[in-house]
Amino acid sequence: MCGIFAYLNYNVKRDRRFILEILFNGLRRLEYRGYDSAGISIDSSSSSDPNGQLSFSPLVFRQEGNIDSLVKSVYKDVASIKLNLEELFCVHAGIAHTRWATHGEPSPKNSHPQTSGAGNEFLVVHNGVITNYEVLKETLTRHGFNFESDTDTEVIPKLAKYVFDKATEEGDQSVTFSLVVLEVMRHLEGAYALIFKSHHYPNELIACKRGSPLLLGVKELSEDLHSGAPFLDLKFISENRHPKELFLSSDASAIIEHTKKVLVIEDGEVVHLKDGGVSILKFENEKGICGNALSRPSSVQRALSFLEMEVEQINKGKYEHYMQKEIHEQPESLTTTMRGRLKRGGSTKAKTVLLGGLKDHIKSIRRSRRIVFIGCGTSYNAALAARPIIEELSGVPVTMEIASDLVDRQGPIYREDTAVFVSQSGETADTLLALEYALENGALCVGITNTVGSAIARNTHCGIHLNAGCEIGVASTKAYTSQIVVMAMLALAIGDDAISSQARREAIIDGLFDLPNKVREVLKLDQEMKELAKLLIAEQSLLVFGRGYNFATALEGALKVKEVSLMHSEGMLAGEMKHGPLALVDENLPIIVIATRDACFSKQQSVIQQLHARKGRLIVVCSKGDAAAVCPGGSSSCRVIEVPQVEDCLQPVVNIIPLQLLAYHLTVLRGYNVDQPRNLAKSVTTQ
Ligand code: F6R
Repeated sequence: MCGIFAYLNYNVKRDRRFILEILFNGLRRLEYRGYDSAGISIDSSSSSDPNGQLSFSPLVFRQEGNIDSLVKSVYKDVASIKLNLEELFCVHAGIAHTRWATHGEPSPKNSHPQTSGAGNEFLVVHNGVITNYEVLKETLTRHGFNFESDTDTEVIPKLAKYVFDKATEEGDQSVTFSLVVLEVMRHLEGAYALIFKSHHYPNELIACKRGSPLLLGVKELSEDLHSGAPFLDLKFISENRHPKELFLSSDASAIIEHTKKVLVIEDGEVVHLKDGGVSILKFENEKGICGNALSRPSSVQRALSFLEMEVEQINKGKYEHYMQKEIHEQPESLTTTMRGRLKRGGSTKAKTVLLGGLKDHIKSIRRSRRIVFIGCGTSYNAALAARPIIEELSGVPVTMEIASDLVDRQGPIYREDTAVFVSQSGETADTLLALEYALENGALCVGITNTVGSAIARNTHCGIHLNAGCEIGVASTKAYTSQIVVMAMLALAIGDDAISSQARREAIIDGLFDLPNKVREVLKLDQEMKELAKLLIAEQSLLVFGRGYNFATALEGALKVKEVSLMHSEGMLAGEMKHGPLALVDENLPIIVIATRDACFSKQQSVIQQLHARKGRLIVVCSKGDAAAVCPGGSSSCRVIEVPQVEDCLQPVVNIIPLQLLAYHLTVLRGYNVDQPRNLAKSVTTQ
């Protein structure tokens, strides 16, 4: 949900074209976070000040549409203003933004960087939402500021200018960039990650955040440039003047190709990049330049961490689209999700599950009065798929909450509850608000995320990482199947090890070991699903019926189809069919019924019979060899998709894959952008 990026080279010569390309590449990596408009700011050095010194003034380029439209328009503008692309900079600070519109339609004026006005004295790129922007706008308008955009963000650079002007008017000529930003932060409410650039502070950048994610990447260049001992300050980022390149980004995908050394910026921190050094100040909510004297903010020392991801993970490789790649890499993503966590054999021949992130909390979870799963969209569906096995193995009642609904209702959450927050990104605003609420109510909070260092990972008491690898396609696929597997392992870890459940537990563990092979097998349906997509390409609507473990499969399959192929589709509980949806059934409406072998199989058989009796146009997902058992009157009466049978609680992992493939092929055949569905963005960091 908006991506922000910045690049600063220090003590190393880079030409303007190089700087532009770094910014564009950063934006391409972040494009999945929002793709309705984009913008950048770089420096012009064409003017001289009265002392004959070159003075830098920021140029701003903004464009509606995707990054490619921005790139085209920038090169056109650069040519028209005769800006030299070969001009070298030993130090240069550029900022960039890709937008998912919240306030104001996609248009150049609403794109970022947003500016303080003529001369671009202060420029800001922003991810998040400023909730008190109307009040700030009113105040700033009274102070003579004119607003050009419909965004919430525009108040930020204007506030920075107001703070700067006030400080200098009052004689404080030495007000630093970080003090200006600290003062701005004091007035902002809402969620944000911000990068500031200013005409008054050439070659400096400031980054700060509250709520939205932001990383700093540090690439030391001493090794490349000096033959002497390499300089690597791994322990702390300190002020130093070694050649380097610094990157700021909403997430690691835009940094990994440059460096693995990162700092995960924390809420309330103000990171100042200046003269090759990085200083970090902590925002304290005290009176500042606009009130009384600003008390000295405390400076912070932070260790860098290493990204555990590889560039290959964020490339499409042999695939045409990220969604396609991510569907097909599920055997591997599931393997990494389970790696080191399942044990079988050894002297006791016992089969066990080890979840390091939970080890000190397992007993408390077992003792909780209730387990509440909380998430949104696909993550919610994954929890729904895992609910029956958690109830069965732990004996603890499980309830489900859509994060926004829990917060809207201020639903009951108690000290005796374990609240499990499921979120691929770990940054979803609705889920974060629900987490805040559960923490306030004293529940034990467990996080299940795919993003190390994300807000949910950091703010929960304990948790489990999915380790599914980076997911770039906006529609979640491999993270979903890894979420189900993680929650099946959670069920095994918290379930009691009574003799009566031992055989069941062992069967699930064996099933988990074999799951990547079964997924490999089901992926062979790719061509068959493409054929089905060709048949359905012109349909308006699709229904998907499931029950038991596969109610979640019905919801998730329908969600995949609707979000990428833009075909209306609804996932429904098959048990509810007779209570309304049956009225929709005729010979035209395609209906997918999930009827793989489990305790609900015979009930699904009667659902199929009832649909058949009403001439329903049936597509049945069934276990291998069951075609005759599920097709009333033989295979001509319905289309059958046969999938390998696995342990019932793992069957949703296998069953969703043909539906992911169907959604993918439908979208490509319909000519839509499968990785960037209309109006959507990954990581929904606004409410
Ligand atoms: C759909 C999808 C969304 C997300 C939802 C929550 O394919 O990805 O429904 O699941 O926006 O996001 P996370 O899991 O990051 O909390």
